[in-house]
Amino acid sequence: MKSTLITGITGQDGSYLAEFLLKKGYKVYGLKRRTSTENNENIGHIQNQIELISGDLNDLPSLIEAIRISKPDEVYNLGAQSFVECSWSQPIYTTEITALGVTNILEAIRLVKPDTRFYQASSSEMFGKVLETPQKETTPFYPRSPYGVAKVYGHWISINYRESYNMFTSSGILFNHESPRRGLEFVTRKVTNTVAKIKLGLEDELRLGNLYAKRDWGFAGDYVEAMWLMLQQDQPDDYVIATGETHTVKELVEIAFEYVGLDWEKYVVTDPKFMRPAEVDILLGNPQKARKHLGWEPRVSFEELIKMMVDSDLAKFK
Ligand code: NAP
Ligand code: GDD
Repeated sequence: MKSTLITGITGQDGSYLAEFLLKKGYKVYGLKRRTSTENNENIGHIQNQIELISGDLNDLPSLIEAIRISKPDEVYNLGAQSFVECSWSQPIYTTEITALGVTNILEAIRLVKPDTRFYQASSSEMFGKVLETPQKETTPFYPRSPYGVAKVYGHWISINYRESYNMFTSSGILFNHESPRRGLEFVTRKVTNTVAKIKLGLEDELRLGNLYAKRDWGFAGDYVEAMWLMLQQDQPDDYVIATGETHTVKELVEIAFEYVGLDWEKYVVTDPKFMRPAEVDILLGNPQKARKHLGWEPRVSFEELIKMMVDSDLAKFK
C-alpha cells in the first residue's frame, strides 16, 4: 500500500485529492493546522478513512514529524494562503506560508525521506501580466500580487531541490479550478452562492469588482487527477493544467443568473472595494504538454461547472 501526505487537506483540492487517492488504494495522511473551531467541512465524509497529523507549513519540526509518521511515497503540497486579494493585506504571512512553507516541507523530506516524490501546487497567477497568450510551461513569469510572487518562489525552489539533490519534485502550473467546495471568497463561488440566495429571496444584490477579467476555469475534480499523474511519470517535470478556454467574470455572472431564470443586470452592483491594486487581466492556458505526456484531459465544461455549483448552493439553502 502506497502512503501519501497531503498538506492543505481541508481545502478544496486537498479534499478531492484525498478522495481520489483513497480510491487508488493509498494510505492517506493529511497535515492539518490547529484551529480554534472545526473546519473539516470538505473532509467530514472521509474523515474515518484518513489520518490527520497536526502541523503547520511555518513550523519545520511539525513537518519533520509528519514525514516521520507518514513515511510517504508521495507528498502533495497544496497548503497555502491561497486568496490573491488577501495577499495585499497580509503580504508577510502569505510569503511565509506560500513561499517559505515550500522550503520547509522540502527540507523535512530531504532530511527524513529524500526518495519521496513531491508535488508543488504552482499557479497560473505566476504569469500575471502575461508575456504571451496562451500561456505554457516556457512562458516567462510576471507575477502581479504578493501571492503570485510567493508562488514563483515555491516553483523555483522545487526545481532547485530537483537539480541540487536529485529529488523527484514536479510542479503543476494549474489555472483556476473550482467546485461546490470552493471557498466563498473566490469569484465563482461568491457568484453561485449569492445567485442561489437571491433566487430563494435571501439576498437582493451581488457586489463584485472587475467584471472584465478573464480566466481559464476548470473543475477541481478533474485537476487533482493531473497532480497524481505527474508523480507517476519516470522523470519529474512541470506541466500547465488548463482547459484552453477563457471567459470573463461577466460571462460567469450571466450563465449563473440565466440558469435560475433571473436578469443579472437587476442584481449586480460594481463595488470598487473588490478591485485589486494590480490585476491579472487574462489567463488562458495551453495544456498540450499534459495532454501529450500525461494523457490528461479536462472533462467538465465551463457551463457545466457553473450549473453544478449553482445547483449545489441551491440545495444547501433549501
Ligand atoms: P484552499 O481551498 O484555500 O486550501 C488551502 C489549504 O491550505 C487549506 O487546507 C488550509 O488550511 C491550508 N493551509 C493554509 N495555511 C496553512 C499553514 N500555515 N499550514 C498548513 N496548511 C495551511 O486552496 P485550493 O483551492 O484547494 O488550492 C490548493 C493549492 O493549489 C494552493 O496551494 C493554491 O495556492 C494552489 N492553486 C490553486 C488554484 C485554484 O484555482 N484552486 C490554482 C492554482 C494553484 P485551513 O483549512 O486550516 O485554512
Ligand atoms: N474574489 C473576487 N471577488 N474576485 C473578483 C470579484 C469579487 O468580488 N469581482 C471580480 N473579481 C475578479 C478578480 O479581480 C479576478 O480577476 C477574478 O475575478 C478571479 O478572482 P478569484 O476567484 O479570487 O481568483 P484568482 O484568479 O485571483 O486566484 C485563484 O486562481 C489562481 C490561479 O490562477 C486562486 O485560486 C489562486 O489561489 C490561484 O493560484
